Amino acid sequence: MNFKTVSVIGLGYIGLPTAAVFASRKLNVVGVDVNQKAVDIINQGKIHIVEPDLDMVVHAAVTQGYLRAATKPEPADAFLIAVPTPFKEHHQPDLSYIEAASQSIAAVLKKGNLVILESTSPVGATEKMTRWLAEARPDLTFPHTHGEESDIRVAHCPERVLPGHVLRELVQNDRIIGGMTQKCSEAAERLYKIFVEGECVITSARTAEMCKLTENSFRDVNIAFANELSIICDKQEIDVQELINLANRHPRVNILRPGPGVGGHCIAVDPWFIVSATPDEARLIRTAREVNDGKPNWVVEKLKKAISEYLKLNPKLSSEDINIACYGLSFKADIDDLRESPAVEIVAALRHAHAGRILIVEPHIEVLPSALEGNFELTTVEQASSQAQIAIFLVAHKKFKSKSQKNLGHHIILDVCGIFSA
Ligand SMILES: NC(=O)c1ccc[n+]([C@@H]2O[C@H](COP(=O)([O-])OP(=O)(O)OC[C@H]3O[C@@H](n4cnc5c(N)ncnc54)[C@H](O)[C@@H]3O)[C@@H](O)[C@H]2O)c1
Repeated sequence: MNFKTVSVIGLGYIGLPTAAVFASRKLNVVGVDVNQKAVDIINQGKIHIVEPDLDMVVHAAVTQGYLRAATKPEPADAFLIAVPTPFKEHHQPDLSYIEAASQSIAAVLKKGNLVILESTSPVGATEKMTRWLAEARPDLTFPHTHGEESDIRVAHCPERVLPGHVLRELVQNDRIIGGMTQKCSEAAERLYKIFVEGECVITSARTAEMCKLTENSFRDVNIAFANELSIICDKQEIDVQELINLANRHPRVNILRPGPGVGGHCIAVDPWFIVSATPDEARLIRTAREVNDGKPNWVVEKLKKAISEYLKLNPKLSSEDINIACYGLSFKADIDDLRESPAVEIVAALRHAHAGRILIVEPHIEVLPSALEGNFELTTVEQASSQAQIAIFLVAHKKFKSKSQKNLGHHIILDVCGIFSA
């Protein structure tokens, strides 16, 4: 199969860089997104998301005529689906975006096409997608019923790039290729080899699905260990950072650092796909999720305790007189991404627990997210430091690291991200 035209469905953090990289290799790429605004911006050679250097690659691809965006799919040799896969109520995976995307491409599918699901998916989702395609196109054959003889090849190739380094990692990372059959894998491998310099490793679709979920669950469980340790140490009056430094001197121990919880749309979401499929077996993975999801609440309780201790020392003051400075809102250090951020959850919960001013320092954003509108003040380190009696460090941004704890004007400082001890 010779790939001349590629269609990428979903032009977000994953789909747009993928489309742009194929276009940079001089394939004709049609990017499809239901968001008309995103489509318009891309067709002007601009981008609607934050990712270093992506603007240049998209601009070149659009002006040279290799990349075009549209709201409706058009015929192509290969389709890559990169739409969201959040969870819905009770942490059940929401496959409605994949279903909608597959229904939209079904109309333009032709014999010999390759369809790749890139979205992070629960085990069995690729087969489900294949069934949706087959229902919509009874005139074509698919691998779940016709194996190697199928008209359409289908594979799951999960994406594992790190935001901020997407263009480099897309090319350099190894790629898991999970075909529904061997020929499906081989077709997908040929497509990715157009730009992937890492190794393309072939497996089944189910193993590829589980592989991505496993990677994120591994991280989640290890972070949960550190977070649980921090709560135990607090109760036992032990400095958890010192403890981890000591324990990590063991040649085979490597404990991660605790934080205010786990955020982002991957590690905080994907382990639930394993739990929802195998609830009786996935005990450790579920507990890790619960430990990490419970951490913001623990942090809020620590803050409440600090406020009442400060009031005890200053009996003439009331809660309204106490200003609290919260340093960092993003879900990890040195980025502007606030999705599922535990820091946002903590600050929002603090509003219900505290009557005084809450000053927020987040140098990576210019406006507060809608969850924090009203009753919060986005300010600078200098202002927060001179106005707030109590401070909490929620994210270890490099921009905060240069500040010494001693030079800040606060009476009480809580450090839940280890910024002053790492
Ligand atoms: N962002 C990451 O760092 C990352 C890393 C690895 C894997 N993933 C996975 O990749 C997938 C996509 O993530 P993302 O971060 O790019 O999401 P995103 O929200 O940035 O982008 C998804 C895009 O899909 C569009 N869309 C939704 N339904 C559509 C449809 N039916 N047809 C066409 N377009 C549609 C949306 O408008 C949006 O622009 C998810 O499964 C995610 O878990 C993301």
